Amino acid sequence: MIVEEFITKSYPKTIEEGKVAWESPSNIALVKYWGKKEHQIPANPSISFTLSKCKTITVLEFSEKENKTDFSFDVFLNNEKKDDFKPKIETFFKRVEAYLPFLKNYHFVIKTENTFPHSSGIASSASGMSALALCLTSVDRMLSKNHEHLNKSFFNKKASFLARLGSGSACRSIEGSLVTWGTHQAFAESSDLYGVKYPFEVHENFKNYHDTILLVDKGEKQVSSTVGHGLMHNHPFAEERFKQAHKNLNDLIAVFKSGDLDAFIKIVESEALTLHAMMMTSMPYFILMKPNTLQVINKIWAYREKTDSKVCFTLDAGANVHMLYPENEAKNINQFINNELVEHCQNGQYINDKIGLGAKLL
Ligand code: DP6
Repeated sequence: MIVEEFITKSYPKTIEEGKVAWESPSNIALVKYWGKKEHQIPANPSISFTLSKCKTITVLEFSEKENKTDFSFDVFLNNEKKDDFKPKIETFFKRVEAYLPFLKNYHFVIKTENTFPHSSGIASSASGMSALALCLTSVDRMLSKNHEHLNKSFFNKKASFLARLGSGSACRSIEGSLVTWGTHQAFAESSDLYGVKYPFEVHENFKNYHDTILLVDKGEKQVSSTVGHGLMHNHPFAEERFKQAHKNLNDLIAVFKSGDLDAFIKIVESEALTLHAMMMTSMPYFILMKPNTLQVINKIWAYREKTDSKVCFTLDAGANVHMLYPENEAKNINQFINNELVEHCQNGQYINDKIGLGAKLL
């Protein structure tokens, strides 16, 4: 599958060497992407809050090489050479080569750092792949004499398109603060190929929305997202699940407009539990939640019961719990976390993050 719109035909310029750097955030899905078709096409549309503090900083150095028949690159994480990252990047390069025809002309040094601990169980693929895609889109732009075809909105679209080919959820990390990905009838501009900024009204209740990530379990996941997505093929509940995602995304439009946080909570928590229900009912089945995940969820429910708090939880493909809450509750929720929830976090660790504006050129 080749998408003509994103092919750079030729580069009028030559640059012997150069350097570019981007920082790109992670994101947390409210309606989950779970299940994909060939070529990283999502089985259903999703929407996420872009985060602010959890991000990847990537510096890409490139220098022209003699042999232009293979990809050539080295990867460093926190200044340490990481050859085990190479296969994933090699696959990514193969997928995007048609759109970035300079890839075999250069040797690349990719230096990357995350603001969150590497083994925190926080997926770095969304921030990492989007940061790399942005760096490569910048090189594409540098080599093109006429920048017109790479104006800002096209630049973001191409970067998101490329990021998706690295990791699906990465395409939602280019911009902020709410991004949808996947064709949906209510969003005229929506696409399976890239993320787009949420185009409708958002109530001020969602301004500066907080996401505190409780690091319940920092271990390696037993099942990768890619394998999990694959298990949605022939999954007995897949069709209903995909329909539900369309409906939940549609229902969120009214919620974002009215600021109805009770309705928001219902959709977001149901999405999180449905994601895990899909894992528990696939063949093979698996469970990524840990006892502490359930302890935290129950305490959040009890806290909501006894206060008028609008805090809710969501999960991604792991045991960690994301607590989402409005800005005006930040102080109380911090106390609640310190009094009741840190005991369920590995080494008492959690990360206070909030909704962000997207990636930045450095
Ligand atoms: C559960 O984007 O990590 O976080 O496309 O195979 O790289 P690949 O999968 P990935 O899947 C993330 C799934 C999720 C839900 C979401 O972010 O929408």
